[in-house]
Amino acid sequence: MIASSSELAFIFPRRKRRVNSTILKRLFSAIQQGRDADVAQLCEKIIAEEKRLGHQKVAKQLSSILHSPPPAARPPTQGHALTTLPTSRRDSSPLLQSIPHEQLRHHMVVPTDVEARFLRIEKEYAARARLATYGLRPRNRILLHGPPGCGKSLGAERLAWATGLSLQKVRFDTLLSSYFGETAANLRKIFDAATTQPCALFLDECDTIARARGDRNDVGEVSRIVNMLLQLLEEFRGDGIVIAATNLDDTLDPALFRRFDEVLEIPKPGDTEIVRLLKLSFSSLETEKDFPWNQAAVELQARSCSEIVTICQNAAKRSVLASRHAVTWKDFEGAMTEQRRVA
Ligand SMILES: Nc1ncnc2c1ncn2[C@@H]1O[C@H](COP(=O)(O)OP(=O)(O)OP(=O)(O)O)[C@@H](O)[C@H]1O
Ligand SMILES: [Mg+2]
Repeated sequence: MIASSSELAFIFPRRKRRVNSTILKRLFSAIQQGRDADVAQLCEKIIAEEKRLGHQKVAKQLSSILHSPPPAARPPTQGHALTTLPTSRRDSSPLLQSIPHEQLRHHMVVPTDVEARFLRIEKEYAARARLATYGLRPRNRILLHGPPGCGKSLGAERLAWATGLSLQKVRFDTLLSSYFGETAANLRKIFDAATTQPCALFLDECDTIARARGDRNDVGEVSRIVNMLLQLLEEFRGDGIVIAATNLDDTLDPALFRRFDEVLEIPKPGDTEIVRLLKLSFSSLETEKDFPWNQAAVELQARSCSEIVTICQNAAKRSVLASRHAVTWKDFEGAMTEQRRVA
């Protein structure tokens, strides 16, 4: 909204200065205080004044400046990919996969206590500068665990989305195929990159590292890698967050749990969550009047979120293909039978 010097020269020509000083003062204070609506109104006043004084050409030019479309909005500064991705020396393939911010999913259904813990991580991250003034740090080393298909990977996306950080997924395939003895050094490269360029560093299925024991001849190297991971987690002081996810809980080394500020279990959905998940999954379509949500929840008990979402998608497809305007109980039952057959 701030006029350039040439635009100002236009408004206030040296010899024939016409705009009265009261409008000028109000305009300047509106600009200084960032009151855009008032700035626009005062500009309209100036145009009207110029017209009143018979300066039709100037009034027209001013009006065209004021009403021309604004330049395209700048893309958000958040969620940038790392400028330099660490690579493996073996074949120079990247050790991280960047997920662009606009591709991150964040609609998630979890029990209220789990939701509260996700929100606490997000709030602490947003308040990190304030926390720092008291010598405090936000929780930024997060372990997500729980049964398959209930939102660990989705939870990592949600955290990246909510904090505005880019999600950088560790490529365990590349990492573990590094030259003998180099994996630990590559892990360090990854953490160094995440420290110098804040991001949400995601170690999905982090138990892969421990499982590599069976695939490798050198057990010594695997324990070196695990120890390196423990050390890097402990030392991590980056401005971003580190998120690890695993299905295992009992079998995980307790030393790993201790390295995290937040160990968050994402359980299978209960009845309340199943109904919310059903409503979320059908939200782009209508459902028949009196759709028995609670009965559907009973049918879906003990299933993972991922299975429930698939059943809902299949029910929705049945409805669309039959050109029905709303998903019916019959569509739902059909999708359930289909799912039982493939399971
Ligand atoms: N809590 C949830 N809320 C909404 N949708 C969910 C939730 N959990 C899972 N889903 C759906 O299931 C899909 C798979 O979930 P996700 O990949 O996050 O599971 P996961 O816990 O990482 O499983 P795995 O242990 O197999 O890696 C998601 O893409 C989403 O469609
Ligand atoms: Mg996953």
